[in-house]
Amino acid sequence: MERKCIISMLCAFLIAGFATPVAPAIDKRPVAVERWCEKLPHAKEKLTKLHFFFHDVVSGKNETVVRVAESKATAKSPTVFGAVFIMDDPLTEGPEPSSKIVGRAQGIYSSASMEEIGFLMTLNFVFTNGQYNGSSLSVLGYNPIFKKYREMPILGGSGHFRLARGIATAKTYRLSASGDAIVEYHVMVLHY
Ligand SMILES: *[C@@H]1O[C@H](CO)[C@@H](O)[C@H](O)[C@H]1NC(C)=O
Ligand SMILES: *[C@@H]1O[C@H](CO)[C@@H](O)[C@H](O)[C@H]1NC(C)=O
Repeated sequence: MERKCIISMLCAFLIAGFATPVAPAIDKRPVAVERWCEKLPHAKEKLTKLHFFFHDVVSGKNETVVRVAESKATAKSPTVFGAVFIMDDPLTEGPEPSSKIVGRAQGIYSSASMEEIGFLMTLNFVFTNGQYNGSSLSVLGYNPIFKKYREMPILGGSGHFRLARGIATAKTYRLSASGDAIVEYHVMVLHY
């Protein structure tokens, strides 16, 4: 169990969520999705709280982010305006890179601000462990990385998180001189 886990609700979640050894499989066949949708009028929305750390590795041999595009003006921009990156960043239970992997953040971030370092984040949190193995959450948001808290909307999800909506709050945990970042995420998800 993560030592930093001091809020009991969060601990209960970590136990229930990522540490469960057997994942109840979600039936993804169209007929099962149809049945699920038909039951929706009687379904109750619930709140799930997730907590994990995101590892953005831009340096060294095992980088998890690649720069795929930029404009002619990007090199001269103090905010690297126009640069586009694709990531497949590990998500872990605790802050250390060696901590248990619970999923990946897969997607694109682009420098979309000329006045500050502000990224347009377009990504999926793809869970690979515990109760949410095989489920995902889709995020589209504004990420001014030097602000203490960055709030990004969750616009949807799959598997356990069908029709999800919610809020992901990012806070930088560690930023190394090489640009590698460890970011703490608290995610509140409403789903059925
Ligand atoms: C890169 O990954 C390999 C395989 O997982 C590992 O053995 C190696 O230590 C890693 N290198 C760095 C610089 O982290
Ligand atoms: C997650 O699900 C995949 C596919 O069902 C399975 O192969 C894998 O072993 C599961 N991982 C864990 C850690 O349960």
